[in-house]
Amino acid sequence: MSEKQAEKRTEPYDAVDVIIAKRDGHALEDGQVDWVVDAYTRGVVADEQMSALAMAILLNGMTRDEISRWTAAMIASGERMDFSGLSRPTADKHSTGGVGDKITLPLAPLVAACGVAVPQLSGRGLGHTGGTLDKLESIPGWRASLTNDEIMAQLEEVGAVICAAGSGLAPADKKLYALRDVTGTVEAIPLIASSIMSKKIAEGTGSLVLDVKVGSGAFMKTRERAQDLAETMVALGTDAGVRTVALLTDMDTPLGLTAGNALEVRESVEVLAGGGPADVVELTLALAREMLAGAGRDDVDPADRLADGSAMDVWRRMVAAQNGDPDAELPTAKHTEVVTAPASGVLTRLDAMAVGVAAWRLGAGRAAQGEPVQAAAGVEMHAKPGDTVTEGQPLLTLHTDEPGRIERARAALEGGFDVGEGHEPAPLVLGRVG
Ligand code: URA
Repeated sequence: MSEKQAEKRTEPYDAVDVIIAKRDGHALEDGQVDWVVDAYTRGVVADEQMSALAMAILLNGMTRDEISRWTAAMIASGERMDFSGLSRPTADKHSTGGVGDKITLPLAPLVAACGVAVPQLSGRGLGHTGGTLDKLESIPGWRASLTNDEIMAQLEEVGAVICAAGSGLAPADKKLYALRDVTGTVEAIPLIASSIMSKKIAEGTGSLVLDVKVGSGAFMKTRERAQDLAETMVALGTDAGVRTVALLTDMDTPLGLTAGNALEVRESVEVLAGGGPADVVELTLALAREMLAGAGRDDVDPADRLADGSAMDVWRRMVAAQNGDPDAELPTAKHTEVVTAPASGVLTRLDAMAVGVAAWRLGAGRAAQGEPVQAAAGVEMHAKPGDTVTEGQPLLTLHTDEPGRIERARAALEGGFDVGEGHEPAPLVLGRVG
């Protein structure tokens, strides 16, 4: 008998029984959930077995108790951080990802400037949405990896940390997410909710605000699915003792006027300097107010901290604490090309997915984990829906270091915007859960 077979004989459950239970529409027992997550992390449950289970979960769903237990099992697969020793309360924000979503960059220093510490352990981008770490890495010298001691020290001294989530947090999720990616099971709401919340709960924040994006450029294309995901995640956070609320926000059109790493850093600094696009400012303030309320500091108005420059001070200290130079020139692309308005009228639509895919193809994003990204690549927008444009005026500027990428980026933008008459402005914040 091989060592693996001998190990299997001592296991309390059999993976096939767990798969069959879920395939036949039953709720899994607590013990089955604990075991299957742990055994998969240990390599005792094979990838093909976990694939089958993930598909059964996608098709048959999970009860609230099952999702809660699954999340707890993923948290238990790794370490859990503890910020209770800090001198101020903690709050974090998680966005389900969108095009031009640079909100974390101005938000973390803003909330810190209001007296609440922000431990923001982030990831890198994959596909058409950018990753916060990729954006910050366009700042010369900036370092994403910190030790737990460095995170604690920076939270105490500066008040905000945006850094890479270490491999110690919810390792079960890392393995399962990679498997879901190649088995058509990413979209299962119980698996998305437990994946996001296991990392956020393990991160140790006291309160959490979720920005659940809805629309063409978002993971959740419909309001119903976004609402379902938001309610599931808020329930998970609440069950785990983390004060959690969610905002549902529009992602049919990109946020702000830039999509791309250095381009988005530049726009975030504009917001911190008291300017920047109105939608970025509006969402930054809306999320800051929720974070402050969750941390018991709703007596502070974040708009004052943007206006008086204290959020900018924290940004500069936060960047410098991670070896970045806040005064350094950001990289600029070797090539730019302009897309012009095809007619005069009102820009009635600018599709987030089209802009996101164009930025990705220009080199701002990666197709597979581990690929490098271009710091300066991306799309700059000169108009947003509702703006009047004149035929031939610049609508978008494409930025890239490799001109060979321009043609495919242009192809992504075909059919991605309309110029016509009249425009009904859509609200940015569509709903709230919690
Ligand atoms: N982001 C995550 O961290 N997990 C998911 O499953 C989906 C998005």
